[in-house]
Amino acid sequence: MTSKDSWRFLAICMLFFPMTLCFLQDQGRVLLVSFDGFRWDYIYKVPTPNFQYIIKNGVHIKQVTNVFITKTYPNHYTMVTGLYAESHGIVANEMYDPILNETFSMNHMTINNSKFWEDAYPIWIVNQMQGHRSGAAMWPGTDVKIHGLFPTHYMLYNESVSFQERISKLIEWFMSKEPINLGLLYWEQPDEMGHILGPENHRMRAVISDIDNKLGYLVSELKKANLWDTLNIIITSDHGMAQSSRDRIIELDLYVDRSLYRMIDHSPAVAILPEEGKFNEVYRALANAHPHMTVYKKEDIPRRLHYKQSNKIQPILAVADEGWEILQNKSDEFLCNHGYDNLLPEMHPILIAHGPAFAKNITKQAMNSTDLYPLLCHLLGINPLPSNGSLENVKDLLVSSVSEKLQYRAATYQQESYACFIGVFLGSTLVFVFLLVFIRHLIYNQIPVIGTQHAEIARPLLQA
Ligand SMILES: *[C@@H]1O[C@H](CO)[C@@H](O)[C@H](O)[C@H]1NC(C)=O
Ligand SMILES: *[C@@H]1O[C@H](CO)[C@@H](O)[C@H](O)[C@H]1NC(C)=O
Ligand SMILES: *[C@@H]1O[C@H](CO)[C@@H](O)[C@H](O)[C@H]1NC(C)=O
Ligand SMILES: *[C@@H]1O[C@H](CO)[C@@H](O)[C@H](O)[C@H]1NC(C)=O
Ligand SMILES: *[C@@H]1O[C@H](CO)[C@@H](O)[C@H](O)[C@H]1NC(C)=O
Ligand SMILES: *[C@@H]1O[C@H](CO)[C@@H](O)[C@H](O)[C@H]1NC(C)=O
Ligand SMILES: *[C@@H]1O[C@H](CO)[C@@H](O)[C@H](O)[C@H]1NC(C)=O
Ligand SMILES: [Zn+2]
Repeated sequence: MTSKDSWRFLAICMLFFPMTLCFLQDQGRVLLVSFDGFRWDYIYKVPTPNFQYIIKNGVHIKQVTNVFITKTYPNHYTMVTGLYAESHGIVANEMYDPILNETFSMNHMTINNSKFWEDAYPIWIVNQMQGHRSGAAMWPGTDVKIHGLFPTHYMLYNESVSFQERISKLIEWFMSKEPINLGLLYWEQPDEMGHILGPENHRMRAVISDIDNKLGYLVSELKKANLWDTLNIIITSDHGMAQSSRDRIIELDLYVDRSLYRMIDHSPAVAILPEEGKFNEVYRALANAHPHMTVYKKEDIPRRLHYKQSNKIQPILAVADEGWEILQNKSDEFLCNHGYDNLLPEMHPILIAHGPAFAKNITKQAMNSTDLYPLLCHLLGINPLPSNGSLENVKDLLVSSVSEKLQYRAATYQQESYACFIGVFLGSTLVFVFLLVFIRHLIYNQIPVIGTQHAEIARPLLQA
């Protein structure tokens, strides 16, 4: 190697050292967003430019097959565990555990009982157990201690905290010196307005437009923070919404006395706990009571619903047909609802995604919500716990070949990596120059020493 070659080699090393450090390091960051109750077809009801922007540049699952019962808590826990409700244990928004003799109630704000959550390990805990940090803005369950842990960063549930504030917290956590790699964001709409107005009400148009604007705000904030191109973002929901009517009410009081049972969870999938010794009486009274209500003994609940293997599933389950409501008394309050059979399209949410790991401009008809968890684990580069989902089912959403992936990454990581590259380049140049000066210093100091040594050795020879 000539000295010119050595210099060239050194220069190349100095260029590649920061490049490998900055460009090839896959952060595997994910932001998962849930707009509660965003039915899959809402995007067709009004112009939704921000949804379309992501769809064009990312992936779009038209209908997500969620899990039974199609309610908020069970489905949010499925998204972060990959398990059916019977396996993750959050089987309803209102629960009773006969072994613990304790209740869990969304309506009474007693969802913070850890024991109800601990049949499973949600992804934020799995992520943290594998050495990463998670941050959550109001995602159901993230302010509950589960298996002794909270998310690294979280907010106490408070419906009044604005969308802007939730986003600014998440961005702060992603940008911090000890950044999170997993962010979870929850927003209560359009579910609340959907219950009140009904999905077919023309006033829902404004509600959906508002969600689209919120999505636009999220995208612009991520762009401002230089996160947009490097973060994998998934926007989805827990369930859809069906139209109810005063003309479609099933009144339990007409068939069975209230004193014979406790109504644990409410319409449209009613969990019934008969009083001691009253099971047969209650079941017989309800079994064929109404043509739009299917009544199951727990052990007869169809396998496809995966809703059987839990203490928290009550002995009798009464499920209304779509658009029907089961009340005790006609004058009980009711709203439009979800919670019906998860085969019904009206119960299905949307899913769209964008980021360095996702293919562009891909539309798929369907996916199982249980497959989201293995996908999230793959994106984060963590090992998933056993689940009811499979990465195989959703692999086609990802950038396929390695070369494509590298190309895409080289392009998208450029902005963020540029600063890192300059930093490491300058840093290593400084180190190199220092080394050079140091070595030269050594050489110059040693030449005279070597010289005298030689002189001393040489002198006798000369003298000789
Ligand atoms: C269950 O708890 C309630 C109070 O929450 C109590 O009144 C009742 O006796 C308990 N039942 C059993 C079987 O321990
Ligand atoms: C749950 O929250 C309520 C108030 O919201 C509080 O009184 C209760 O102590 C909490 N329980 C647990 C187990 O943290
Ligand atoms: C909830 O958030 C609102 C708005 O930020 C705030 O005014 C209120 O004090 C919060 N409530 C609680 C209980 O923290
Ligand atoms: C239904 O509730 C209303 C008001 O609570 C009451 O007046 C009525 O008697 C109830 N009907 C039945 C069938 O229990
Ligand atoms: C997206 O895909 C559709 C068909 O799958 C194609 O017609 C369209 O041109 C594509 N758009 C872009 C921007 O690649
Ligand atoms: C959803 O899961 C079911 C049962 O495992 C499977 O048969 C079906 O192919 C899956 N659907 C998709 C779109 O992956
Ligand atoms: C779902 O996954 C859990 C955990 O691996 C497993 O115990 C359960 O049997 C699975 N359920 C089905 C229906 O395969
Ligand atoms: Zn919901």
